[in-house]
Amino acid sequence: MNEFGYKKPNVSFVQGYMEALTEAGLEKNSFDIVISNCVVNLSPDKKLVLAEAYSVLKEGGELYFSDIYCSGQLTEEVRNHKVMWGECLGGALWWKDLLRLADEVGFSVPRLLTASIVSVGNEELQHILGDFKFVSATYRLFKVPKGPPEACRVIYNGGVTGAEDRLRFDCRNTFKANEVVEVDGELANILKCSRFAPDFNFQPPGGSTELGCVNPKADIVDPFELAVELGSQGLSAATGGCCSTKSADCCR
Ligand SMILES: C[S@@+](CC[C@H](N)C(=O)[O-])C[C@H]1O[C@@H](n2cnc3c(N)ncnc32)[C@H](O)[C@@H]1O
Repeated sequence: MNEFGYKKPNVSFVQGYMEALTEAGLEKNSFDIVISNCVVNLSPDKKLVLAEAYSVLKEGGELYFSDIYCSGQLTEEVRNHKVMWGECLGGALWWKDLLRLADEVGFSVPRLLTASIVSVGNEELQHILGDFKFVSATYRLFKVPKGPPEACRVIYNGGVTGAEDRLRFDCRNTFKANEVVEVDGELANILKCSRFAPDFNFQPPGGSTELGCVNPKADIVDPFELAVELGSQGLSAATGGCCSTKSADCCR
């Protein structure tokens, strides 16, 4: 509290289920950010969890969360395995299903921030899992209006505290202050319609500029590929929370 300059506490605690945030007393359309670490996998109804987060977020708000994802849709046997469920493996979503559910709920295309491989480390469980692999990943989902995506050029003005020189937005987009960058329509929309809007200057695509220009990056990144990429750079273990530990023992 003192560290952030508050005289009075500005935190309150509410107990409830992630599938029923409004029922727990959280007001609709009232939050800037919903955060979560290694919890969504434990819900049997992930779509409802996303829908509840969407409902309590303001327009422009963000669901920023880490969780464990699988390389495919898990079998009934794995999903019903109590140990696997307790280890945050049995309830893991196929990462591509997150993209689908986010879209169905109304969120922007999930932006992948970081990922690291989760190893199982137990022969008996691994035998049941077969070829399924797991990854811990952090995604950002934005509640922004959907419209025809229009690519544009953006210039980050260094306005985010703690990220004055460069803002790492996701795994493929880091904005250097005062550098002109061309972004795809989806990302342009997020920047324009979220709390980041005051931190960017927006220009039409392809306009003339004296500054450098970086090509737009593809939107959808496979978290397993990112985990390997970051792992080879020695970066994965340092970039996440509980779900990003290398073995699935955080939930014991
Ligand atoms: C693996 S722990 C993660 C805890 C914490 N987020 C952290 O990073 O250390 C999972 C947590 O999810 C909570 N949980 C499980 N199902 C839930 C639900 N339906 N609604 C809210 N919390 C739930 C459990 O009680 C447990 O505290």
